[in-house]
Amino acid sequence: MATLIGGIGTSHIPAIGGAIARGQQQEPYWKPFFDGFPPIRDWLATTRPDVMVVFYNDHGLNFFLDKMPTFAIGAAPEYRNADEGWGIPTLAPLQGDPELSWHLVNALVEQEFDIVSCQEMQVDHACSLPLKLLYPDGDCPVAVVPVCINTVQFPLPKARRVYALGKAVGEAIRAWDSSKKVAVVASGGLSHQLDGERAGFINKAFDLQFLDSMESNPEWATQFSIHELVEKAGTQGVELLMWLAMRGALAAAGPRVRKLHRSYHLPISNTATAVMALELVQAASR
Ligand code: DHB
Ligand code: FE
Repeated sequence: MATLIGGIGTSHIPAIGGAIARGQQQEPYWKPFFDGFPPIRDWLATTRPDVMVVFYNDHGLNFFLDKMPTFAIGAAPEYRNADEGWGIPTLAPLQGDPELSWHLVNALVEQEFDIVSCQEMQVDHACSLPLKLLYPDGDCPVAVVPVCINTVQFPLPKARRVYALGKAVGEAIRAWDSSKKVAVVASGGLSHQLDGERAGFINKAFDLQFLDSMESNPEWATQFSIHELVEKAGTQGVELLMWLAMRGALAAAGPRVRKLHRSYHLPISNTATAVMALELVQAASR
């Protein structure tokens, strides 16, 4: 059976791509964010996952307001990245793992999640940047399965539902008849609001409580309605739903996680950023 080794959470901001392109990782503005990644890269170099399931939200590239699935899973052999501007380098296509994609689609529909399966899918910064941050040199060595969760157009899925989706993904990974090692990635958050009267809104106290909950009380944020999450984390901060899905997948695979890394830094652009890696303690003994 496949092994789920752990989970990684990171903020995504298009400007990060521009900083990578300009080699600004060591500049004071960027360094606290980029410094989150070497410890995680060391872990990946040791554990060498084959596939990453990436929970992310599309921002209008592959799905626009006219067609907005709540949950969509990529089932393509490769995923092209499209440049949204702000200096993001155009990256090589990410390789897919259609066998895992279809396994997830089947398992989730069986669990009564109504999934849109996408045999063609373009991915934006939310999917491509985490991979570039984890594997900065050359082409990405892992295959990816993008799992897109709507945080763009209301109604959004509830936090409890997203956590349950993550759990179903974790169970399906564990049940996958494969010798591959899998990691789950969350891309989004933490608190930020890009528009409206509260543009620039950041809530550090809430973010830190949310990060604590990822370590010790993963269901904590499922108590909140979407409107409460928007109130606490900002209109785009609701992207933290991705972290709940990632953490749900880990919870389904084992009772204990070990924190490998956690950092929090604000702001980058309009966003309070976080980077975290959690290793599944049970994974090694399975
Ligand atoms: C920013 C944050 C995002 O989550 C995003 O998708 C785009 C931009 C920002 O803070 O600039
Ligand atoms: Fe975003």
